[in-house]
Amino acid sequence: MGALLSVEGLDAGYGAIQIINDLTLALDAGARLALVGRNGVGKTTLLKTIIGLADVRAGRVLYDGKDISRWSPRQRALAGIGYVSQTRDIFPSLTVEENLLTGLKGRPRGAIDEAYELFPRLAERRNNGGQQLSGGEQQMLTVARTLLGQPRVLLLDEPLEGLAPIICLELMRAFERLAKDTGVAVLLVEQKVDDALRFAPNVVVLERGQVVHRGPSEELRARADLLARFVGVAGAH
Ligand SMILES: Nc1ncnc2c1ncn2[C@@H]1O[C@H](COP(=O)(O)OP(=O)(O)OP(=O)(O)O)[C@@H](O)[C@H]1O
Ligand SMILES: [Mg+2]
Repeated sequence: MGALLSVEGLDAGYGAIQIINDLTLALDAGARLALVGRNGVGKTTLLKTIIGLADVRAGRVLYDGKDISRWSPRQRALAGIGYVSQTRDIFPSLTVEENLLTGLKGRPRGAIDEAYELFPRLAERRNNGGQQLSGGEQQMLTVARTLLGQPRVLLLDEPLEGLAPIICLELMRAFERLAKDTGVAVLLVEQKVDDALRFAPNVVVLERGQVVHRGPSEELRARADLLARFVGVAGAH
């Protein structure tokens, strides 16, 4: 029995620049894992390596028992690795509904009701242009569009960044529901550490492209000293 997604002894980066150093982690089917760490430690680079947008120098990425290190980003997406980037890339000139249609990957049009069920705000704004959406709505749209492809693994890169507390709450509730209802495995990168640790039972902390701590989220929540050191917060509440 292997994990659904794992990286083993990974050295990766951009061309000659190595960012990720000998990194190993695993995500089981249906599991939730939080990935935290300060700015610039390589969180996004790790996700990019998993989806095929950064260069692997050593080690490998395994998905569903296969070495996918040399697969194209498109192959990985089609195989069920969903990615929501830190930059919320929606199509600003398309409506909400048109944005959602781009995520269907051949599924019938009616499937977009799943997106509206998860985020009723999107249903209310289905004919609004992408550029008219608030930051939170844009985030909902990128998440919903990715989910329409029915991924088995969802990689979320700081989905709460820059959003108001009430919207963060709404998003986190949607992620909870989603994980429960669909069984999608979630790797959540988030600097709002408290939210990340509540969501995921296990956590990995990165520093300079390396894992410096891993274990149950509850344990880390109780360690104000480690939280201060790793992510610069006084403690989770
Ligand atoms: N395309 C690129 N080419 C070269 N270096 C890059 C590239 N993208 C990022 N880097 C560098 O890689 C390092 C890690 O960046 P990364 O974006 O992975 O960090 P992060 O942990 O996601 O940070 P943040 O919390 O700010 O999002 C940084 O030093 C960054 O400058
Ligand atoms: Mg990042």
